[in-house]
Amino acid sequence: MTNSYYITTPIYYVNDSPHLGHAYTTISCDIAARNKRLQGEEIFFLTGTDEHGQKIDKAANLAGTDPQKFTDLVSQRFKALVKANVDGTATENLLNITNDDFIRTTEERHKLACKAFWNKLKESGYIYLDKYAGWYSVRDEAYYQESELVNGKAPTGAEVEWIEEESYFFALSKFQDKLLKFYEENPDCIKPKSRYNEVVSFLKTGLKDLSISRTNFNWGIPVPDAPKHVMYVWIDALTNYLTATGYPDENAEKFQKFWKNGNVTHVVGKDILRFHAVYWPAFLMAANLMPKKLQIFAHGWWTVEGEKMSKSLGNVVAPRDLIELYGLEQTRYYLFKAMPFGNDGDLSRDKLIETCNADLSNNIGNLAQRTLSMVAKNCDSKIPTYNDASLTDDDKKLIEETQVTGSNDKFEEQLSNFDFFNIISDLTKISSFANEYIDRNAPWVLRKENPERMNSVLYHLCEAIRCIAIMLQPYCPNSSGKILDQLNVPLEDRNFKDLEKKYYLKPGTTINTPTPAFMKIEIKDNSDLKSF
Ligand code: ME8
Ligand code: MG
Repeated sequence: MTNSYYITTPIYYVNDSPHLGHAYTTISCDIAARNKRLQGEEIFFLTGTDEHGQKIDKAANLAGTDPQKFTDLVSQRFKALVKANVDGTATENLLNITNDDFIRTTEERHKLACKAFWNKLKESGYIYLDKYAGWYSVRDEAYYQESELVNGKAPTGAEVEWIEEESYFFALSKFQDKLLKFYEENPDCIKPKSRYNEVVSFLKTGLKDLSISRTNFNWGIPVPDAPKHVMYVWIDALTNYLTATGYPDENAEKFQKFWKNGNVTHVVGKDILRFHAVYWPAFLMAANLMPKKLQIFAHGWWTVEGEKMSKSLGNVVAPRDLIELYGLEQTRYYLFKAMPFGNDGDLSRDKLIETCNADLSNNIGNLAQRTLSMVAKNCDSKIPTYNDASLTDDDKKLIEETQVTGSNDKFEEQLSNFDFFNIISDLTKISSFANEYIDRNAPWVLRKENPERMNSVLYHLCEAIRCIAIMLQPYCPNSSGKILDQLNVPLEDRNFKDLEKKYYLKPGTTINTPTPAFMKIEIKDNSDLKSF
């Protein structure tokens, strides 16, 4: 049976242009969505921008423009990274992302959803009016306890200010036990495990009620029936996940399929785990809107050449620069080969070049290019005939290496853990094995001595390449597509279930002219090396 999966990125603040960190989260969701589609599941994949609150208001002021115009402008830079909007207008899709929707929190549909959600919380008795007096960080859009401050600053290093204002509160303290019980019953709900443990320990320390409205600025969604108040930007922002499913129309097909009965997966950086793993499920419980299954993946942080990415250090990496210098497929690949998903990682130019050239160009790309060139030259550009009766141990081993799905739980497990690092590491291992198989079997010698055996060897290699390219699609969609095109594999036969079809390739099928799927990254002079 097909399952319905709803995958979301955080919605990014439009106070500034997108950088590598944003691109990383979006690409990880794209890989997850592509993997799920290749598993035959139904996917709804959402990304977008977070446009209200004091941080955006300040940024707009600084730019000398009003916040609506400002967000109209900056949200375009985020949109340019991903696929077309719901209204069908095309975007550049710089990162080759397969999102189904792009939401902006300034859209009408979202204002409607926020109002309905607020009213629901209010009706269930979890909202009350009081006065907030405490610390607030505009950069983090977060409240901090006195005890959390480090040298007068937020634990993140952000400046905090003291605020005192009338405010609506959400009775978060009432959810400590409910949340602990929920996480006890759903140990898979937060990944990786270390983050799960972090959330559970935090919950055990107790929860304070949360201020959910602000009165000292007005760039936000008005609180229903309380015109002085705008909603706290995080309650507004989190609700976006509901908005995109059609909420408040609970009969909407998307809401039913992807929210109520769906598997909801929020992918976030570890910086915003608490908002997603504590506040959000508490809101949802209060509003009686918990989805069938909720999962949160919190990944780590990228630094650049050992330093934190920051504007003041001048080392903020724009995705566009990286792609222009090293290529999109290479960038997508490296981001997930640099470290296991969940860990922190450092973007190093030298490692990027070394990894991509070794794995993509010299290993996988070379395997495809040398094999298909031999097929073109020696087999009249046709998939050769194999001799099933005389399989050698080496052939059997190669076939076994490439048959990783179906009976193999490891791949399934890797997919469900977003263990992209080990999946692509395994692909390079298969490819290395196949390259060694070529050397051991030396088809160029067999050509004269035993053409029948040469055909078998090349056939098994084409099959290995087919399997590698199918599994590589989520990471390097264009290059793997190119390899599958060269093998003439129809689009509908490129799913994970097709991996199990041993001897899929039909002898006699014409292949297309082989050209390298991955270019080697050449650094011409040192000026390229100065920046990403
Ligand atoms: O927090 N390394 O938006 P934001 C890895 N609007 N990932 C990084 C990163 C880095 N150095 N820097 C940013 C917000 N990210 C809210 C979210 S959701 C309802 C509202 C990624 O623009 C990572 O996913 O500050 C992080 O969680 C997110 O960008 C924060 O983006
Ligand atoms: Mg941030």
